[in-house]
Amino acid sequence: MTGREVKRVIVAVTGASGAPLALRLLQALRKEANMEIHLVLSRGAERTLEYELPAQKKTLLSLADVLYHNSDIGAAIASGSFRTAGMVIIPCSMKTVAGIHSGYSDNLILRAADVCLKEGRPLTLVPREMPLSAIHLRNLYDLSMMGAAIIPPMMTFYDHPESIDDMVTHLIGKILDRLNVPAVYKRWGE
Ligand SMILES: Cc1cc2nc3c(=O)[nH]c(=O)nc-3n(C[C@H](O)[C@H](O)[C@H](O)COP(=O)(O)O)c2cc1C
Repeated sequence: MTGREVKRVIVAVTGASGAPLALRLLQALRKEANMEIHLVLSRGAERTLEYELPAQKKTLLSLADVLYHNSDIGAAIASGSFRTAGMVIIPCSMKTVAGIHSGYSDNLILRAADVCLKEGRPLTLVPREMPLSAIHLRNLYDLSMMGAAIIPPMMTFYDHPESIDDMVTHLIGKILDRLNVPAVYKRWGE
């Protein structure tokens, strides 16, 4: 996809802690012209949303152009012939990491991620767990070798953040960079 063509991006939210990160990414993507956001939430995400963003679920959902049910395995994004600019799973649970790793595509999020890998499209995972077990690390390492970008929500101090919000801005900037979407955050050397 080039020029003024619509840029379709798949955003998936799973049941790891970090629903506010998904909201911030969706808000940033929504500001872009020609952006078409395809959103899927897992059942786990529905639950973490209740804990972490109880008043903002509607806002989060309203940022999507197309909203899918995670059981809708026949949806457009389940097919490689439906062209997209890539997918971000934010936050990404260890269960979903394991599902992608094994190719066990029994829900739409796993299938869409599988499609990105098989079609050679950018797949970005924002995995969240602490501490990480050897299983988690092995799965993430393997997925990185398969072409996925692994961008955990890590703290960054070299840009002198004054708030959690500043750290989130930095994280979202790194994700937008992967999607070739202009991002404003404190870059080293600028
Ligand atoms: C409040 C809450 C926080 C959770 N945080 C995490 C987490 O940070 N990382 C993780 O891998 N799983 C976490 N889980 C567990 C996942 O939600 C669970 O493994 C779920 O089956 C993931 O399924 P999904 O990937 O389809 O959303 C959390 C669960 C709850 C209820």
